[in-house]
Amino acid sequence: MSGEAAIGIHDLSFATTQYVLTHATLAAETGTDVAKYHVGIGQRSMSVPAADEDIVTMAAAAAAPIIARHGADRIRTVVLATETSVDQAKAAGIYVHSLLGLPSATRVVELKQACYGATAALQFAVGLVHRDRTQQVLVIASDVSRYELGSPGEATQGAAAVAMLVGADPALVRIEDPSGVFTADVMDFWRPNYRSTALVDGQESISAYLQAVEGAWKDYTEQGGREPGEFRAFCYHQPFTKMAYKAHKHLLHHCGHDADEGEIARSLGHTTTYNADVGNSYTASTYLGLAALLDDADDLTGEAIGFLSYGSGSVAEFFAGTVVPGYRAHLRTEAHRAAIARRQDIDYARYRALHEHSFPADGGDHPVPRETTGPYRMAGLLGHKRIYEPR
Ligand code: COA
Repeated sequence: MSGEAAIGIHDLSFATTQYVLTHATLAAETGTDVAKYHVGIGQRSMSVPAADEDIVTMAAAAAAPIIARHGADRIRTVVLATETSVDQAKAAGIYVHSLLGLPSATRVVELKQACYGATAALQFAVGLVHRDRTQQVLVIASDVSRYELGSPGEATQGAAAVAMLVGADPALVRIEDPSGVFTADVMDFWRPNYRSTALVDGQESISAYLQAVEGAWKDYTEQGGREPGEFRAFCYHQPFTKMAYKAHKHLLHHCGHDADEGEIARSLGHTTTYNADVGNSYTASTYLGLAALLDDADDLTGEAIGFLSYGSGSVAEFFAGTVVPGYRAHLRTEAHRAAIARRQDIDYARYRALHEHSFPADGGDHPVPRETTGPYRMAGLLGHKRIYEPR
């Protein structure tokens, strides 16, 4: 990095929802063999937001511990990536900026490209820090993944937010320069403005993802990237955790790199633990994989981690990071495990009611009953305005 201190992820924190629906409950309701979920797609449960939770409350809950630890003096930019935006014009990050009491001398913007958006945000943040190494950028990925009831996608829902503080001389992961990118115009998953649930061609989305892995890797190699054997682990976008295995096997086969099941499990195993319990968190999923890896794996000091970010439609990027000596002292392992463990189990009827809940569009006063025990809540809609408050 031209002799200057590296740039990368200085802190990472995630938050998820009040409720959880297990795949055992879903399987009993739909008459599906639960092994299809546990083994076939690699999912055990999915996070479900309470009626007073959304991408803003999760984003603020994820970012608050970062502000508490580092302050906001050096943060001049907040980039929130999401594909489940709450407004067509106003950036969700402005509500988060307000809830966190960030200084007015901040630029706030929202980014969208399906599940890929947070990686664009991370790379843009690295660029901003290159311009002024005293600045830090707060990158937040926050999403609620929602498919139609009874559809094949229903088992791959979930919700979470990951917040990352990006700066020079990072405490967790240095981001390396070579980066491979890939774009192709495909209709594998999309959500027209008039729909609250996504449309998806599941099998097409799997093939489009695998195509994108090849394309991003080819470009990464041409940009002077590492060899596959140099990586200790790979964090893939995980719409369901089995997809990471499909993608990795595809990449290794494409590279002609022989790897046995043991090596594949060693490269991916730790990255899937949080995603298996949280479900698809769209933009947050790759970085939830990183959180799980850092929290669960034995010492990774100096190891190279590969990142493959995929967003339907489609854009993908492959890049690498190296784990910084002393990183373990900066992890939030206990808080992350508690965020998953604190969720309350709900039955299918409650999940269904929450899934079908929507706000009237009449501009009236629509308060939301107090439900979440998280730090922030959406108090309701008033005159078409979303009202947020600390709990
Ligand atoms: N025990 C163990 N495994 C089982 C099983 C059982 N009883 N029944 C099925 N399976 C396996 C299947 O063999 C398959 O595994 P494979 O893909 O390795 O062959 C897996 O479970 C899923 O089965 P499938 O019949 O393909 O499920 P589906 O038609 O319900 O669709 C998705 C699965 C992922 C395509 C669907 O959930 C979806 O559309 N999700 C949203 C989009 C998405 O996540 N796309 C990913 C790329 S972004």
